[in-house]
Amino acid sequence: MKIVVLGGTGLIGAQVVSQLRDRGHEAIAASPSTGVDSVTGAGLDAALAGADVVVDVTNAPAFDEAAVIAFFSAATANVLAAEKRAGVGHHVALSIVGVDRDPDSPGYLAGKVVQERLIHEGGVPFTIVRATQFFEFLASIADASTVAGEVRLAPATMQPVAAAAVARAVADAAVAPAAGVVEVAGPERASIPSLVGRVLVAAGDSRPIVVDESMGYFGRDVDQTSLVPVGEAIIDSVTLEEWLVAR
Ligand SMILES: NC(=O)c1ccc[n+]([C@@H]2O[C@H](COP(=O)([O-])OP(=O)(O)OC[C@H]3O[C@@H](n4cnc5c(N)ncnc54)[C@H](OP(=O)(O)O)[C@@H]3O)[C@@H](O)[C@H]2O)c1
Repeated sequence: MKIVVLGGTGLIGAQVVSQLRDRGHEAIAASPSTGVDSVTGAGLDAALAGADVVVDVTNAPAFDEAAVIAFFSAATANVLAAEKRAGVGHHVALSIVGVDRDPDSPGYLAGKVVQERLIHEGGVPFTIVRATQFFEFLASIADASTVAGEVRLAPATMQPVAAAAVARAVADAAVAPAAGVVEVAGPERASIPSLVGRVLVAAGDSRPIVVDESMGYFGRDVDQTSLVPVGEAIIDSVTLEEWLVAR
């Protein structure tokens, strides 16, 4: 199959491209650095010509609510329209576990809510793969939560997963029939402070972790269930400690 991976140069996208090529498919990485821009539409029609499947694993360049909404609104509408012109039969997108349970969320998630809504209404058969937070993202959470040298984190529960497992779930979805929504998570539920703290210790980072009930998560309130799957999900077996050792 010819499979175009929008965002195919990114953390997840590069692994999806490589996994699809290993399985014998023609996987094309498309992004601004290869001349394809989902937001302006530049290069989309040419990239999608003859494609059977389009995988969208792009991300917004800025994470504030307005920027993320603007990015996913324009990009998703452009991509779905280009898929219809090209006769693409399956749209696969990567989203975040919990997005359906927080439709009025402020912050970053608001952009993913818009993205999922456009896909549901878009008329192209789709699979949305919702993932929990990547192990690779935990250090960025620490950086985004650092105030005066302290890492201040909400005591909410997380179930993070290795990016490689997310890429595998996306590649699996791309070569299967459209399936609606599937979810993928890691093997362990723990508090955000515990998980981020273990990553900092492994990196020799001495910033103290402070549990702070007043802290949200990228602009939204989170509790013990906001960030974890509550229904059926693919559960990867690689633990945070195994990932830290293998890095
Ligand atoms: N971080 C997490 O824990 C987490 C959890 C669940 C889901 N997700 C979702 O995972 C997705 C992928 O994340 P990631 O970390 O792999 O992203 P990433 O490494 O930041 O890569 C982003 C990709 O998007 C491309 N891109 C940016 N602007 C574009 C545009 N205008 N048109 C086309 N492509 C564009 C980039 O291309 P260039 O390289 O050319 O700039 C790059 O290939 C995101 O949608 C995010 O919401 C993330």
